Amino acid sequence: MTLYGVGLGPGQSDLMTVRGRRVLEDADVVYSPGRLSRSVATEHVPEARIGDLDFPMTRDAEKLRSAWKAAAAEIAPTARDGTAAFVTLGDPNVYSTFGHLRRTMAAFHPDVELEVVPGVSAVTAFATALGVEITAGSSLALREADGGISPTGPDRMVLFKVTDAPATHEGLVEAGYDVVYGRRLFMEQGETLVTDDPTGIDERDYYTLAYAERPEARVEQATDAFLESADENGVVSDGGETTGPRRASTGRRPDGGESDIARQERSESALCGDEVRR
Ligand SMILES: C[S@@+](CC[C@H](N)C(=O)[O-])C[C@H]1O[C@@H](n2cnc3c(N)ncnc32)[C@H](O)[C@@H]1O
Repeated sequence: MTLYGVGLGPGQSDLMTVRGRRVLEDADVVYSPGRLSRSVATEHVPEARIGDLDFPMTRDAEKLRSAWKAAAAEIAPTARDGTAAFVTLGDPNVYSTFGHLRRTMAAFHPDVELEVVPGVSAVTAFATALGVEITAGSSLALREADGGISPTGPDRMVLFKVTDAPATHEGLVEAGYDVVYGRRLFMEQGETLVTDDPTGIDERDYYTLAYAERPEARVEQATDAFLESADENGVVSDGGETTGPRRASTGRRPDGGESDIARQERSESALCGDEVRR
């Protein structure tokens, strides 16, 4: 009936979505492309329902094509007769092996229905793990940095595949970036490390990313003003009391004729810092 591409999240089993878990529980076979995704999947389904797929460690396009053809040929009958799931770490549509499977299925087994369940990607999880806030009004670029390269240009970048942190670091610092590295973030397998010292992360662990930011690119926020009257502990002496009358949420329709939902949506966007016009 259906092949589901299911995002497992960054690695800790309780960071997968409720929907993703439900799909895995209902699937006849849960196909896994690697050891790490397998170990997360087995937290949710018994080993007997895991189907291991074998992919060669090669960049040879011909060999890769034939491995994907073989994988698709194995998965297609399960997906036609019942439900198959293919798991990936993070999100299935972000730098993921699932894209190869989707294209191969479309080419050779177009009758198989396909559905994707998104997962918590390293693209978003990095912010919490590294203590970074992408504030309203700022932009963020996603780049690859394998083999020690140092992509530069945007004010803020998440760099994936940082396989030679010391070499990448050199180029980034030269170009004026502050850089923080994160290895195996929110992962149960292996040791998590967050550091700004690239030499501490030089054993070339594939599950390493970096966040690079130009210090001058900081965007001022309305709430920064609170800190101006804060004491040395960062506490403001009025204890957070409001100075004007409190505005209760009445749920009443305002005179302007705008519906409550429209008004709430407008105010949510405004709180995010977006300029909102009527
Ligand atoms: C092929 S991409 C897979 C991305 C994944 N589909 C996602 O949405 O997060 C692999 C790269 O993502 C980054 N990555 C993925 N998970 C990570 C984690 N838990 N901790 C650190 N980096 C991670 C690393 O840079 C790694 O080289």
